[in-house]
Amino acid sequence: DGASWQSEKCAEIERELLQMQTTDKSMQRQLQAAEKVEKQLKKLAKQYKDSDSQIQAMEQDLGSAKASAVTSESAQFSSAASLELTEAQTSHLERRLKELELQLQQADKGGEMAVLQQQNQAQVKELERLDAEKAELALKSEAVKKELQTARLRQQENDRRLSASASASQRLGDALRKLKVEASGLQVGQQKVREECEAHLRSIADSFPPLAGAVSNIGDGVAKLMERYQEVAEERKKLHNLVLELKGNIRVFVRVRPINEKEKAQESGEATMTFAEDCKVSVFDAAASRRKWFEFDKVFSPKTAQNDVFEEVKPLATSVLDGFNVCIFAYGQTGSGKTFTMTGTDANPGLNVRVLTELFRQRDERKSETDISISLLVTEIYNETIKDLFTTDEAKQKKLDVKQNPDGTNSVPGLTELEVHCVEDVLEAMKKAQANRTTMATDMNEESSRSHSIVQVRTLNVSKKDKREYVGKINLIDLAGSEN
Ligand SMILES: Nc1ncnc2c1ncn2[C@@H]1O[C@H](COP(=O)(O)OP(=O)(O)O)[C@@H](O)[C@H]1O
Ligand SMILES: [Mg+2]
Repeated sequence: DGASWQSEKCAEIERELLQMQTTDKSMQRQLQAAEKVEKQLKKLAKQYKDSDSQIQAMEQDLGSAKASAVTSESAQFSSAASLELTEAQTSHLERRLKELELQLQQADKGGEMAVLQQQNQAQVKELERLDAEKAELALKSEAVKKELQTARLRQQENDRRLSASASASQRLGDALRKLKVEASGLQVGQQKVREECEAHLRSIADSFPPLAGAVSNIGDGVAKLMERYQEVAEERKKLHNLVLELKGNIRVFVRVRPINEKEKAQESGEATMTFAEDCKVSVFDAAASRRKWFEFDKVFSPKTAQNDVFEEVKPLATSVLDGFNVCIFAYGQTGSGKTFTMTGTDANPGLNVRVLTELFRQRDERKSETDISISLLVTEIYNETIKDLFTTDEAKQKKLDVKQNPDGTNSVPGLTELEVHCVEDVLEAMKKAQANRTTMATDMNEESSRSHSIVQVRTLNVSKKDKREYVGKINLIDLAGSEN
């Protein structure tokens, strides 16, 4: 052991010094110096001993520090601190050693000091080596710490990414499964639709040739029927007008209006008029106490409605559109109901408006075969003068006169002819005519009883097939009172 060895050496040096004291008296001066050195050496030896034990303690510290540095960071720190302390102590010791070396060199004659020096140097070197090892360990530990930190961060990041991608792949998996289910459903549906379409196409293709045949057959049939229809229509026309002719080209109907309040008061006993069947009427002659019967083509009792009268006249409208000329007169005393029958009221119109309405209806019915245009002429004959009720032009009025045509028919050239397309047009035209009636008469009834009112309706038919034209006419005449 270094310490005991050193103490032994020190004792030896002491002994030699004592020997030197005793054996060489001549070296008194040197001895005195040696004594002085001895004292110093003793002191040094003690100091050296102390230093040595200190070094040993430090070596132990270093050993434990080295061990703990390997396992723990905190131990590294503490060993670094103790290393620093050691370094400080070492340098202090080094200084002290140098001092001792110097003193020993002075005192030492032999090689003992050199040995001590060598030993000290060895110790210093060992210390340096330990120091270096320690620093290296500290560096290594620091690097390991840093690597560990980086690795931990990387691990965290990887964990995060892993869990994110795991949940994303979960979601994608779910969506994919759903899509697969839907796709297989759609495929089934598609297959079904395709099969149905193919079946339909096949059935259409199968039925097409017979259908085409049927269509062309129908076309032929329609053409034949159209031809036949024309023939039948012609036949109807002939028969219709033959019927009217057989009924009589001139027919006389009687319409008896209901008695008014004044007449009711006068009536007593026998009824003035009675009716039988639909064509007989009797009149009671109170003076002769005798009832006389009359027969007509038709008799309308007071109960007869406006439309019932019109129904009897309606076939004549058809004749007009077939190109015949028709004339309806209302004849009778003033107050007997002529104007009521021909014109009527707004709420309950007479023959004029009803006949025109029927003409428009039949025009529409025949429009696939013929274009029918309808026009009106309204005149008044007062004091043997013709008046055009559609104009206020005096010069025009003056020229109006009845002319005989070469074919034997009569006409009044220059009359205003107004085309009408619907019932509304007719009503407007009638209002205009009414406004233009003779205003000279102070009493409207007086005037109307003395004048004939004539509404002439003209129809022009143009056949769509061959553009053949024919004209039909109907005169609706409200005559002057028969008493005039
Ligand atoms: N069938 C009838 N039903 C009800 N009232 C009628 C009928 N016929 C005529 N009248 C009424 O008798 C009156 C005289 O009739 P009107 O037509 O003016 O006679 P005329 O024109 O022959 O002079 C009018 O008030 C009219 O409303
Ligand atoms: Mg009248």
